[in-house]
Amino acid sequence: MPENLSSQLEEYLPQQILKLVKGAGEKASELGLELYVVGGVVRDLLLGRANFDLDLVVEGDAVKLAQELAKESQASLTVHPHFGTAKLSYTSFSFDIATARRESYSCPGALPSVKPGSLTDDLCRRDFSINTMALCLTPQRFGELIDLYHGKDDLDNRLIRILHPNSFIDDATRILRGLRYEQRLGFKLEAKTAELLRRDEAMLDTISGDRLRHELELILKEDCPERVLKRAAELGVLTKLHPSLRGNGWLSKRFEQARQQCKRTSPLPLYLCLLIYNLTDEENEQFLSRFNFQKRLSQAMRHALQLKTKLHTLANPQLKPSDIYQLLCSYTTQAIQANFLAAESPIASQHLQSYLAKLRYVKPLLNGEDLKRMGVPQGTQMGEILNALHEAKLNGEVRTREEEEKLVYNWCQTL
Ligand code: CTP
Repeated sequence: MPENLSSQLEEYLPQQILKLVKGAGEKASELGLELYVVGGVVRDLLLGRANFDLDLVVEGDAVKLAQELAKESQASLTVHPHFGTAKLSYTSFSFDIATARRESYSCPGALPSVKPGSLTDDLCRRDFSINTMALCLTPQRFGELIDLYHGKDDLDNRLIRILHPNSFIDDATRILRGLRYEQRLGFKLEAKTAELLRRDEAMLDTISGDRLRHELELILKEDCPERVLKRAAELGVLTKLHPSLRGNGWLSKRFEQARQQCKRTSPLPLYLCLLIYNLTDEENEQFLSRFNFQKRLSQAMRHALQLKTKLHTLANPQLKPSDIYQLLCSYTTQAIQANFLAAESPIASQHLQSYLAKLRYVKPLLNGEDLKRMGVPQGTQMGEILNALHEAKLNGEVRTREEEEKLVYNWCQTL
């Protein structure tokens, strides 16, 4: 008798999602199809971790099923007929429906070629046993657990296990995925899996820059990416990404501090600046081109290294606030934050902190329009006066609007 998790499913899923999922199972049944929820949600349900990123798999035409479901609801529908996938988006969440598929790899690292298949085909193409479990959603079998690779045992024993010896050769991104799950869940690589991972590390060279970058970004979106990077360093995986990368204590400490710096924004660009901080410019360029980073991120990383060469100037205690502003205003915020976290000189740190917390926001109260009204002619002179006003404001020489106006009048007298 297969294990049934219907009561766990009912308890775990928010009411609204449960209702839709049951409705989808009923509709599939009307069309003579079997529908399943698969992968991460099943794993996380068994672990008691919240995850409502529902991946549904149907043995049959997913696009047709999704179209039928969309007709009877407010959901907006996106379909990819070529891939046999569809996305149903409701107001506060969405779920993906895919046709169960069979995959084969023409050569290591290439994307697989795909054909429609059975649920078994779909599960056996996956990365780790803990991601291969499915729950049936069709009414007669609602909640039935399909666990072909003993994923539940591996969850109980806290193990990350590949399904076959060529898994990392077929798709070396699984090397990075495995370390990510291991550290996220506090699991261990199963012994044979660990051995094969070491054997196949060089297969990371077969992965395109875009796929590699995607996996690195997923690592950096984890709650504690430094743990994954440390483990990747221990296993020799990190140096396969670039020989000069280090996942050491220095990096871990800076990553923790980076999260404090980025309470309301994503720490990802700052993490990347710290990751490459001890590379040379040339090594950084190799890293950027291997991972094909978009312009904005590449610029932040380049700036981090450029600013590093200016730290000795920033360590001068005689610098005025306007000097600090001039030194830093053309650098990306994340590059400045990275240097603040990495700088060894307390004076340089203090200057970087003062720029980040205060100086970058300082603006004069008067603008070009005000100066025009005061009789300053437009052109280079106006630009110079505005700059001088900004400098005076930064250095605390003027505070109020009246003080700014007085300064401008005095300058005008000397013109
Ligand atoms: N998968 C795989 N091999 C990959 C990528 C994905 O086998 N290289 C499978 C896994 O079974 C995974 C599923 O596709 O469970 C969905 O992928 P993804 O959304 O990346 O994984 P989740 O398990 O949902 O992981 P996460 O919790 O990180 O979102």
